[in-house]
Amino acid sequence: MEKTAFVTGADRGLGYCLTDLLLKEGYRVFASRYIRDWDWLDRLKESCGDRLYIVDLDVSDQASVDEAVGQIKARTDSLDLLINNAGIAGSKDEDGSIFDEIDYDEVTRIYQVNTLGALRVTQGLVDLVMNSRDKLIVNISSEAGSIGRCYRTGWFSYAMAKAALNMQSAMVHNAIYKKGGQVLVIHPGWLKTYMLGHVNEEADFPPEKAASDIYGLILRKDEFKADSPAFLDHLGNHWPW
Ligand SMILES: NC(=O)c1ccc[n+]([C@@H]2O[C@H](COP(=O)([O-])OP(=O)(O)OC[C@H]3O[C@@H](n4cnc5c(N)ncnc54)[C@H](OP(=O)(O)O)[C@@H]3O)[C@@H](O)[C@H]2O)c1
Repeated sequence: MEKTAFVTGADRGLGYCLTDLLLKEGYRVFASRYIRDWDWLDRLKESCGDRLYIVDLDVSDQASVDEAVGQIKARTDSLDLLINNAGIAGSKDEDGSIFDEIDYDEVTRIYQVNTLGALRVTQGLVDLVMNSRDKLIVNISSEAGSIGRCYRTGWFSYAMAKAALNMQSAMVHNAIYKKGGQVLVIHPGWLKTYMLGHVNEEADFPPEKAASDIYGLILRKDEFKADSPAFLDHLGNHWPW
């Protein structure tokens, strides 16, 4: 039977590559568009037709999430895979520290997207996930959200938002695990994507590789089933919370 997936933040970067890969793997994919003047998803749709449904979505806006959830629910009653990928880096201030100024508006903006965005989407769609065969939620987090391996003094906004996403993942997992559901929390690696507003050529590898690695972990999901969710990097190494 055809599997269904929803990927947020799918215009470009990792979300686009995951969408493309899932389509090639035979999924029917709902993909969220945030950037109106970026046509990669439209071009992808030309080659796969009805198997890709593009839904406009700003995960930081509850009305937008409600609208997107309504559109998805009108078209499917189950989602095997929900990938909360949408995320922003903000102005990366890794050289800063508690002795410097903190832009609290920026901290709030990033929390709205990276943390509450995933929560809103999951809450809107968890019944569809639980009505599917695979019942899998993948939250794209970051090594920056690991408290156990924290080395930074700056970039409070992003690191704290990802740490909070990790806590959210544990709580969602607690709620769905005994019903057969599962959350995977994944650090995708340092990617040549658009997080800084342009392709970051200094990063380690392209998002196509991360998407392929993450799909490999999705296929191995049963290995990671446990009372608490697995926090993994793209290669499947466990990370401390
Ligand atoms: N890049 C890395 O090295 C790295 C490392 C660790 C974790 N991650 C995580 O990986 C995920 C994907 O990031 P990426 O590297 O692929 O970055 P990306 O190329 O910037 O892709 C993220 C996508 O999400 C979109 N987006 C931004 N705000 C949104 C919102 N409010 N609602 C819905 N979509 C929104 C972005 O649009 P705009 O381009 O307009 O912002 C973009 O299309 C993120 O969660 C990120 O935190 C990335």
